[in-house]
Amino acid sequence: MSGAVLLRGGTVVRRDGERAADVRVEGGVITDVAAPGTRLEADVVLDAAGCMVSSGFVDLHAHLREPGKEEAETIETGSRAGALGGYTALVAMPNTDPAQDSVAVVDFVREQGKRAGLAEVVPSGCITVGRRGEALAPLAELAGAGVRIFTDDGNGVQDAMLMRRALEYARGLGVTLAQHCEVAELTRGAVMNECSCCTDLGLPGWPAIAEELMVFRDVELVRLTGATMHFLHLSTARSVELVRAAKRDGLPVTAEVTPHHLSLTDDLLASYDPVYKVNPPLRSREDIAALVAGVRDGTIDAVATDHAPHPRRDKELALDAAPPGMLGLETSLGVVAPRLDLEPRELVRVMSWNPARIARIDDRHGRDVAPGEPANLAVFDLSAAWQVDPTRLASRSTNTPFAGVPLAGRVRHTLLAGTPTVRDGSATR
Ligand code: DOR
Repeated sequence: MSGAVLLRGGTVVRRDGERAADVRVEGGVITDVAAPGTRLEADVVLDAAGCMVSSGFVDLHAHLREPGKEEAETIETGSRAGALGGYTALVAMPNTDPAQDSVAVVDFVREQGKRAGLAEVVPSGCITVGRRGEALAPLAELAGAGVRIFTDDGNGVQDAMLMRRALEYARGLGVTLAQHCEVAELTRGAVMNECSCCTDLGLPGWPAIAEELMVFRDVELVRLTGATMHFLHLSTARSVELVRAAKRDGLPVTAEVTPHHLSLTDDLLASYDPVYKVNPPLRSREDIAALVAGVRDGTIDAVATDHAPHPRRDKELALDAAPPGMLGLETSLGVVAPRLDLEPRELVRVMSWNPARIARIDDRHGRDVAPGEPANLAVFDLSAAWQVDPTRLASRSTNTPFAGVPLAGRVRHTLLAGTPTVRDGSATR
């Protein structure tokens, strides 16, 4: 257990408002939130001047690649990247090799996270065996091993009957299913958004309807079963509208958007650079406007990175052969803070409070900065302007689309269970 740490001179962001306060933590919990300058003893004093102090960020969507694809990322390097982005918890996506469809693999992922000690790694479980969409994974057994969120991400569950059954089980187990919305028949061979320019570029299009049909189907399956559903990485205006209508009907659905879908447009594919290839694809300006509006009115609950590291040699293949995905953990705050331009409380809501609730880890993450609460904290400067240098990322991969893009908002310190994992912008381990 670490000694006492004092975060001095920051602005604490809580559900009941913001206020200047010093925060002392010890033994993994917050011991004091006191008026600035109050005499508080600590072993380590961290400067939080000019910074917001909030609960640590929670990423609902991180591909950490271990086991099986350690060339791209490991749980250690991915959680170091997460800590640098202000994250204290990462939901690990299940498209590992082997996939996270057994207790042995989810236990391994969780344990590797503990060993790295840089963020709480929360394994998701597969909905279907091997993410193949054919037979249900052992949901009850996985739930018994602590899994609370299930997804086949990377693939959508195509079979409506299987999805219905999964939702019925999920409802009984009190767990959430998270859907990657993509009707596979409509996206075969697709490389970029289906738009006016994709034909000119000679690139097969990924139509918006491929996402929206599955959002529509699953909203209706939620209506039928009463189970809780989270929609992953929504990318189109109509998807936002479908979720808005579902929420209006009182259905238990939540949704996330990625930093890249909030900020990058499909015309970037004219460069034929695979760094911009992602699934779902980058969309239009109109879609971005609808996604931002969805975050602002609460239709979209969370920003989630879809951090998807790939080795350089894979991302150097031709566009049609390169795998989809881009890095996100280290840049998310700097990308979304200026684009969403939210009050700090609203920003923390989508980066921490809501995702913690959706992942069902809100007993320890996404809580208020208050005495007695777990000291999982992010300290970040919203006015810090910076640019990412891909060669200096903590991630084992370099496939960031944000190189050279002006970012605003940077994490200064991150505390996990009271211990700094990031101090003055550098990882401590
Ligand atoms: O772009 C993506 N990359 N989308 C996904 O759904 C999967 C991910 C990956 O695993 O690389």
